[in-house]
Amino acid sequence: MLPAYLPNPVAALLGGGTPVDGGRDFTDGKRIFGDGKTFRGLIVGIFAGIGIGLLQIRLSGAYGLENLPGHTFMSVTLLATGALLGDLCKSFFKRRFGKERGAKWPVADQYDLVAGALLLTLLLDPSWILANITLPVFIFILILTPVLHRTVNIIGYYMGIKEVPW
Ligand code: CTP
Ligand code: MG
Repeated sequence: MLPAYLPNPVAALLGGGTPVDGGRDFTDGKRIFGDGKTFRGLIVGIFAGIGIGLLQIRLSGAYGLENLPGHTFMSVTLLATGALLGDLCKSFFKRRFGKERGAKWPVADQYDLVAGALLLTLLLDPSWILANITLPVFIFILILTPVLHRTVNIIGYYMGIKEVPW
């Protein structure tokens, strides 16, 4: 799941600049995605996710790392892209519910990237999902994700990268 987990923190660290919605509002008068979703965040995040995935492919089979999942360029690209598309979708609905950028939205804030990554991969590379995301793996992901999410965001907050610790 590293190719899905890395894009968000990298976007938080290196993102910024022109927002994906170009500052435009939706029909409800609220922002489409908001200032927290930028092109630079998307691009650097996706490249970072693919990068760590390619490293995993290089390292798989090395001594002590025999059990890494069988990633391919396709699977790491879909996981990384899906993670940030999930995050973008979440922000779209967050704005529709009138929540400001950075407002807390429990469950959605934590699982958007997992849903996006796994759904996009299921759609375009279903055999990878069937071979690798078994039920125990899926349950492990559901448990690990909020723990990692919280930990990384608290670290980001104290480093001054995130404005809020969630
Ligand atoms: N970020 C970005 N581009 C993205 C995703 C994230 O530039 N596609 C950066 C933004 O600086 C953002 C930060 O990463 O503020 C943290 O991301 P996130 O918590 O997802 O955004 P929020 O600012 O909390 O916005 P939202 O309420 O829409 O989730
Ligand atoms: Mg947020």
